[in-house]
Amino acid sequence: MSIDHVFVAGAGLMGHGIAQVHAAIGKRVTLYEPDLTRAEAGRARIAANLERAVAKGRITQAEREATLARVTATDELSSARAADLVIEAVFEDELVKTALWRSLDAIAPAAAIFASNTSSISIDRLAAATSEARRPQFLGMHFFSPVPVMPLIELIRGAATGEVAEAAIRALADELGKQVIVSADRPGFLVNRVLMPLLAEAMRAYEEGTGTADDIDTGARVGLNHPMGPLELADFIGLDVCLGVMRVLHEGLGGAQFEPPRVLVELVDAGHLGQKTGRGFHTYPR
Ligand SMILES: NC(=O)c1ccc[n+]([C@@H]2O[C@H](COP(=O)([O-])OP(=O)(O)OC[C@H]3O[C@@H](n4cnc5c(N)ncnc54)[C@H](O)[C@@H]3O)[C@@H](O)[C@H]2O)c1
Repeated sequence: MSIDHVFVAGAGLMGHGIAQVHAAIGKRVTLYEPDLTRAEAGRARIAANLERAVAKGRITQAEREATLARVTATDELSSARAADLVIEAVFEDELVKTALWRSLDAIAPAAAIFASNTSSISIDRLAAATSEARRPQFLGMHFFSPVPVMPLIELIRGAATGEVAEAAIRALADELGKQVIVSADRPGFLVNRVLMPLLAEAMRAYEEGTGTADDIDTGARVGLNHPMGPLELADFIGLDVCLGVMRVLHEGLGGAQFEPPRVLVELVDAGHLGQKTGRGFHTYPR
């Protein structure tokens, strides 16, 4: 099936990036938030990203304008009536997501594909909010931040996900220039399951005073050739997001390696969520 119109729910960090990359390859994109100001703020973020791309010579001014013209900000869920693909990137909260999917199921065309960008919530539990007829078209489409830069999509296959939907998302990923890996619907899927124990262990070493945050990060960057150290990466992802994903992994799989470190819980409780609040394991701007 061809995907021409993409409806993106949630215009935050991930949603605006997801909207941008689809508009950039010629898709018509509707960017939805229940509050129009937030939807428009997401579109303004896209405009700013594209302006930077023009300044760096990556795209022309004409391409910037054409891409932006394909993005419509809205607070009307009924715009999903025209969607071939709905991508949901709203708060990582199962109740918020299921309520939204239930409403979208009643609005979007029967053939529309439903994709959640959840980092950790079970795809089958989200799909259960939709009708049985929809479930073969329901899957996880897990992008990585920043979306315009990171060339991976983790495709999560639920128990009911069908071949047609999977093939359509693979074809779309090709158009986006992103590589696909497939994960079963298990806690943390593949990438976060591998990543989180590393971040947690770095946090435990920091907590025990084994080394400074800078030395732990330098160790991974210089000694392991990682592009970012584990503590700066955790700050970049968001410490609240890391804590949420570790909890899902720990509850779902057990294993001491997934247990959220005390220092992480304390930082989140204190409102220090990493780069976005100016303080986490490091302070920002650095
Ligand atoms: N931050 C990351 O690095 C990352 C990476 C991959 C996946 N994710 C996942 O992407 C999703 C979004 O994360 P984010 O980092 O963009 O969060 P964010 O807080 O930046 O954005 C979430 C947006 O959803 C909006 N929203 C809330 N309820 C809504 C509703 N009912 N309808 C429409 N919009 C609604 C909020 O107003 C907010 O703008 C989460 O499921 C998260 O787990 C995040």
